[in-house]
Amino acid sequence: MPNVSITGFGDNLTVNGIRLGDLTPAQHEKIEKQKGGNNYSPLENVVVSHVKDSSTLIARKPNPNDLSSYIEEELIDGLCCYSAVNQGQLNQTIVDAVVKHLTEEKLPTVPRSIRHKYMGAFLMAATAITDMDRVVPKVVGVEAPELMFKLSRRWGYRVKGIPKDEAIIVAAKGNFHGRSITAISMSDDPDAYDDFGPKVPGIELVEYNNIDALESLFEKKGERIAAYLVEPIQGEAGVIVPDADYWPRVSALCKKHNILLAMDEVQTGFARTGAHFAHQLFGVKPDLMGCGKAAGGGLLPVSFVAGRDEVIGVLTPGSEGSTFGGYPLGAVVATYAIKVMVDENLADKANERGDQLIGRFNAMKDRFPDKVKEVRGKGLLTAFEMHDAPKLDGHHVSVELLKRGVYAKETHHSTVRVAPALTISADQIDRIADAIDDVIKSL
Ligand SMILES: Cc1ncc(COP(=O)(O)O)c(C=O)c1O
Repeated sequence: MPNVSITGFGDNLTVNGIRLGDLTPAQHEKIEKQKGGNNYSPLENVVVSHVKDSSTLIARKPNPNDLSSYIEEELIDGLCCYSAVNQGQLNQTIVDAVVKHLTEEKLPTVPRSIRHKYMGAFLMAATAITDMDRVVPKVVGVEAPELMFKLSRRWGYRVKGIPKDEAIIVAAKGNFHGRSITAISMSDDPDAYDDFGPKVPGIELVEYNNIDALESLFEKKGERIAAYLVEPIQGEAGVIVPDADYWPRVSALCKKHNILLAMDEVQTGFARTGAHFAHQLFGVKPDLMGCGKAAGGGLLPVSFVAGRDEVIGVLTPGSEGSTFGGYPLGAVVATYAIKVMVDENLADKANERGDQLIGRFNAMKDRFPDKVKEVRGKGLLTAFEMHDAPKLDGHHVSVELLKRGVYAKETHHSTVRVAPALTISADQIDRIADAIDDVIKSL
């Protein structure tokens, strides 16, 4: 006897007689709390239903007059899935490419043990846009730093000559590289690693944006250090932009000590910061770079590592792989994610709309200097930090923004990150800024 029956689409999608369109926000919450893992605490009393335009979601909220039903409201998407939707929700060019390839081109699903014709398109596009020799496709974001970690270690042993099993990977304090055991082993946030130990050995942390600390670590242990694996701008830490001379000096130090510079561009890549990849803002070129999020055009999880021949060249058959890494649909979507970034000038758009948003934040800081402490950002990766006071609470700000039809989320107690799609209109940026202004005024 089958114990599950599934029919329908969208609101008519019905599982064991329960139709999605009939569920209230409270019922959705109950199902998630009872049947899911409690690894997130989503905003309460709101359930996203569908897309209205590239930066507007339709969300369901409790009906104040009848709790057994819901109302629908527009929500401006100020977060775009943590920068996975840089090209905008349901970008028409990418959606058309997917539909055309599935229905007309009869796209197959095959693994890497047999060649498929779309891999060539992806590799040509990805090496061209990153200006790197080679690219290895993966699936989710965390796999990019994970693979850079592996590549760096093997390069360390086979090319640099580090004694077996003694390689060190340097990471930065405050980093976020994802949730795998390797990524949380680099983390200094106890919420991320507590009771998941023992951590992966061979990791040293150094203060971010402190060139002297890095130099003294390199002087002391440089012969055993394979790579400095680091975000060009720290996203989850609250949009921390290093000093203008930090990356050129890091790059010079890495060259001096024959240490790889491996940049995690999962959040900062794909035009988010006003350049195709954030390291370009600082005039440096890493040896390895990892991309994810918007590499999948806002539709699919796609990630990859791009790098120099000498480093990616250490891979051998059997040493690395992934069933869905670079499979035909992923390859097509990633190729089109790159095409849209270039054809729609997303980097220029990030700069224009980013200047507008940061201008509004700075005006807010001038008006409320006792509330707003700092405004940070590059392109459309922006944040404002409030002073450390109980009433200046980032989560409270997110909840209040939701009431005003804007979705943005705190990164830490007092920092709110705003990173909408790069296709967002000037009017929508103003609506986000107006809502934030209104909330800050009310605190
Ligand atoms: C810099 C960076 N690296 C890696 C990741 C992990 O990506 P994913 O959540 O897709 O595994 C993130 C996610 O926020 C990130 O910001």
